Amino acid sequence: MIRQTDDKFVLDTKSTTYAFRVLPTGQLEHLYYGKKIRLDDESGIYTDALCEKHEFAPGNNIVYDDKTQNYSLNDMRLEFSANGKGDNREPFIEVVHEDGSRTSDFVYTGAVIGKDKRVLINMPSSYDAQRDASTLTVTLSDKNYDLSVELIYHVFEDCDVITRSAALINNSKSNVKILRFMSVQIDTNDSNRVLSTFNGAWIREMKRVDRKLSRGRFVNDSCVGASSSTANPFVMFSKKCTCENLGPVYGFNLVYSGNHTEIAEVSEFGKLRFLSGINPKGFEYDLASGETFESPEAVMTFSDEGFNGMSHNMHRFVREHILRGRWAKEERPVLLNSWEAAYFDISESKLLKMAKAAKSVGIELFVMDDGWFGRRDDDKSSLGDWYPNTKKLPHGVNGLSEKIHDIGLKFGIWVEPEMISEDSDLYRAHPDWAMRIPGKPHSPGRNQMILDLANPEVCDHIITVLSDLFETGGIDYVKWDMNRNESDVYSPYLPPLRQGETSYRYMTGLYRILSALTEKFPDILFEGCASGGNRFDLGMLCYFSQIWGSDDTDASERVDIQTGYSYAYPPVTVSSHVSSVPNHQTLRVTPLETRFNVAAFANLGYECNLCDMDQATLDEVKKQVLLYKEWRSIFQNGRFYRGETVDNGNVVTWNVVSADGSASAGMMFRRLVVANDQRGVLKMHGLEGDKKYRFYSLPFKMDVRLFGDLINMISPVHVKNGSMIHDIISRFVKLDGEHEDTVTFGDALDLAGVELSPAYSSTGFNERTRVFPDFASRLYFAQKL
Ligand code: DGJ
Repeated sequence: MIRQTDDKFVLDTKSTTYAFRVLPTGQLEHLYYGKKIRLDDESGIYTDALCEKHEFAPGNNIVYDDKTQNYSLNDMRLEFSANGKGDNREPFIEVVHEDGSRTSDFVYTGAVIGKDKRVLINMPSSYDAQRDASTLTVTLSDKNYDLSVELIYHVFEDCDVITRSAALINNSKSNVKILRFMSVQIDTNDSNRVLSTFNGAWIREMKRVDRKLSRGRFVNDSCVGASSSTANPFVMFSKKCTCENLGPVYGFNLVYSGNHTEIAEVSEFGKLRFLSGINPKGFEYDLASGETFESPEAVMTFSDEGFNGMSHNMHRFVREHILRGRWAKEERPVLLNSWEAAYFDISESKLLKMAKAAKSVGIELFVMDDGWFGRRDDDKSSLGDWYPNTKKLPHGVNGLSEKIHDIGLKFGIWVEPEMISEDSDLYRAHPDWAMRIPGKPHSPGRNQMILDLANPEVCDHIITVLSDLFETGGIDYVKWDMNRNESDVYSPYLPPLRQGETSYRYMTGLYRILSALTEKFPDILFEGCASGGNRFDLGMLCYFSQIWGSDDTDASERVDIQTGYSYAYPPVTVSSHVSSVPNHQTLRVTPLETRFNVAAFANLGYECNLCDMDQATLDEVKKQVLLYKEWRSIFQNGRFYRGETVDNGNVVTWNVVSADGSASAGMMFRRLVVANDQRGVLKMHGLEGDKKYRFYSLPFKMDVRLFGDLINMISPVHVKNGSMIHDIISRFVKLDGEHEDTVTFGDALDLAGVELSPAYSSTGFNERTRVFPDFASRLYFAQKL
């Protein structure tokens, strides 16, 4: 709901309020954002109490004009800030006018409340089927230059989300150079906050980093051409006391996949300014007379129900207003991917063997990863040559796809269309299509270069070639990869003075390609990937229904990576695979059970050679796939809760709840054994407090080899650890694992939890002992009675 009376604006969602007003000087003063408060009734809007009172401007500060001696813009909470009129903090906008000046002076000129959600021209944005006056457009005009700005707000009542974006319109006769134009600005007097960012690296994505804000500027940004695994655009502000289920949290994200920045600045007056948008570093845009430049959409939410509460708002928003098309609501198939099973060493016969094994355990989709095209035997060649390598695929892509379909599986393919290898037919034909500075050396990255998507001809070529592949290949799923960061940024297509637009235009070119292909092939399930999670963001999720979250398939690492994603992105957007051990990224050995348990809290896949597995392991995998399918709708689309971390993250718990609250699946993972620490408690949040639930785990058998030579405590004959006798015994003697089965209420599960069978602690063992060695985990279930 949006209300305006003259100079006051109040935007309400179900549980939050956002308010601002027009200052006597024409700028907008931000008044409030947070838990819902009452600011209006039938008689009007009452914001006077929230307006800052200023009688005298602070010393040594610039006052706005002759008439305004009582305040300086530098000490105001502004909804939109510019350079040059006394506000010394980071600005929302910075432009160079025709006369060379960099000063802007935007003041309020009008506002309109509209029904339809605004669709951005060059970028993806969220959508809203409801038409109920939830868009507000506020116009500001520069007093001295013919430029105007539209601040666009959209209220998503049910998920407590408000989006913001902005448009700069050049009404003047000359060009204007944009140096920065952000998406959102929030100024507040409460700088006593903790800023959390999600940082990492390749195979180490989304580590939450918390810092208490203090005077100065903190910048979370990416300048590699993608939203990056180094600094995801999602950030949170909370209080020191905030925990998973209690306390205030703000979440901010951006519907953009390129270079972005999130700036938190605490001023000399203790005011906190938050800005987010396209990274001004390396960015310049020449806005011609009559043109409009739009900033990406920023997404903001608030919850006073802790980090989980904030995540639920974001998850709901992503599911209902970002994901689109057939796959937004459809369950995702369990897949087998060929990459870690065979890398580049693939052939039709090998792939078919893998596919048959996949079918035998209940897998639904077979994905042929890298190595199928051109002369691609390693990562040194062929990107751009999207035709099959006939030595590996003698019957072409379609021939393979038909055989896979005959086995009873869906067929998926890997592509990396934004790239070009120097050793490729495409590069030999079009060297000027690569993004590189003509005549200058280019710094290498995975032996490949980025195609110049600022050039519309290159985009058209990609659309044509991939349309052909998707039309003729019998393809049900596409893994769209992107494996290098930008360097030597240059578009051979753009003139020298427009080179500052390259990264931005690359992104709008990519969005055009993705929009054309996803519209043309609505039944294909698209999965995004960028060396894993180098481009995991809301922009990509407007086209890709799921994203490969990390090249790291080690279950222990994945627990942290998936926990990181879960703050902003629902499980259905993340793909996660069970791979072989020792793990290829870490050489760590984790139990198959844990590899599955972790991957099950996402879109499950396998990425290992099933043909190399013994029957017992295949049987185990078959049971896993069956269990996943039974609980799939909840694993993928349930409400996800993080448990409070225990022992600095040594113990991690998650649970996910069905939409109607009737069932939940939970997991407990312990990284390393803590000696003589028997107690384990599993809480399940989000169930109906007054309803009774059966809480249970699944019966399972344990391998006696887990106990090493302790077997001699009960064996009548001596058994040498690791000997053939030991192996033979293990085949015939299986031990019963502990089994939970109890009845309790939803609120008891939430607040007290279930005291689990005690963990093994060296003083004894029976069938009620939870044998929990390093990297062990268990799944638990609750079902309403
Ligand atoms: C990087 C991806 O993240 C991997 O899963 C795999 O597809 C390789 N690229 C293939 O080159």
